[in-house]
Amino acid sequence: MRPIQASYPAARFRRVRKSDSLRRLTQEHVLTANDLIWPIFIRDGAGVEEPIHSMPGVHRLSIDRAVQAAEMAAGLGIPAICLFPYTDPSVKTPGCEEAWNPDNLTNRCIRAIKAAVPEIAVMTDIALDPYNSNGHDGLVRDGIILNDETVEALVRMALVQADCGADILGPSDMMDGRIGAMRSALEAAGHKDVAILSYSAKYASAFYGPFRDAVGASGALKGDKKTYQMNPGNSDEALRLIERDLREGADMVMVKPGMPYLDICRRVKDAFGVPTYAYQVSGEYAMIRGAAERGWIQGEAAMMESLLAFKRAGCDGILTYFAPEAARLLRG
Ligand code: PBG
Repeated sequence: MRPIQASYPAARFRRVRKSDSLRRLTQEHVLTANDLIWPIFIRDGAGVEEPIHSMPGVHRLSIDRAVQAAEMAAGLGIPAICLFPYTDPSVKTPGCEEAWNPDNLTNRCIRAIKAAVPEIAVMTDIALDPYNSNGHDGLVRDGIILNDETVEALVRMALVQADCGADILGPSDMMDGRIGAMRSALEAAGHKDVAILSYSAKYASAFYGPFRDAVGASGALKGDKKTYQMNPGNSDEALRLIERDLREGADMVMVKPGMPYLDICRRVKDAFGVPTYAYQVSGEYAMIRGAAERGWIQGEAAMMESLLAFKRAGCDGILTYFAPEAARLLRG
């Protein structure tokens, strides 16, 4: 669509920018608290809020504090919270058995939040990296990340999370065939209303560094994740992955990271018109926060502009560590 436009001086674009009221009246895209999913990091203990060095302002929370955080988020109108566990290295194994322990940190936290704050949707992460002694998202044999064996493990993990009351499962592992396997297992187990938000187009990115510190996976990880996460040079492949995951039963899809991949968000929304999300990842957060702390950019303005950009690019929502701060600002 090309709008019909007079030429200057009949057309003066500045007319509708001249005042706040006209700017508000002509604004095409808006951000609301309803667009936010808040990822939080959880750890063992009680009364603990442990700062994460590479993510200023973000903490690892013990379950009691995570419940308080969920209450606060719900009060701000944030619809969903997403849990990432910092797992004690002593429970990490090559078989990742802790991933489907019904009493692991994530599963206890899901139950605690759903009991105390049932109105907030709880999203989980499905991948083996927090439980894997070698830091990968999948099972490893002879240096190879095993696809089909990993999918079986992920299905177990998904079923236990669903049993604990998770509303949205977020497979972030990038194995092939996991969405279909999870969907049929969920149906068979009677979890017909558990949603899957697939990390469908997840790139092998340098922007995940601070997250790996936050969940304690940096030390363990040998090599990189390029045999399963996407090549940053690809765009058509993202559409094929999204289509594949939709056909296998994903309810919502994600592009990750966010800001360096806004072109992908737009293509996905235009091509499929499905609920589309972007993950503003830890490195994006750290860049904005770090520059703001040094006085190099205006932190709040840069945060809000970065979030609005996702809406403009076609996203229905954003996973962002800024969620409570942004929601508070939106409240005014
Ligand atoms: C791992 C996972 C990662 C993130 C979410 N789930 C990191 C990775 O793939 O190494 C990254 C999130 C962020 O950087 O904020 N399954």
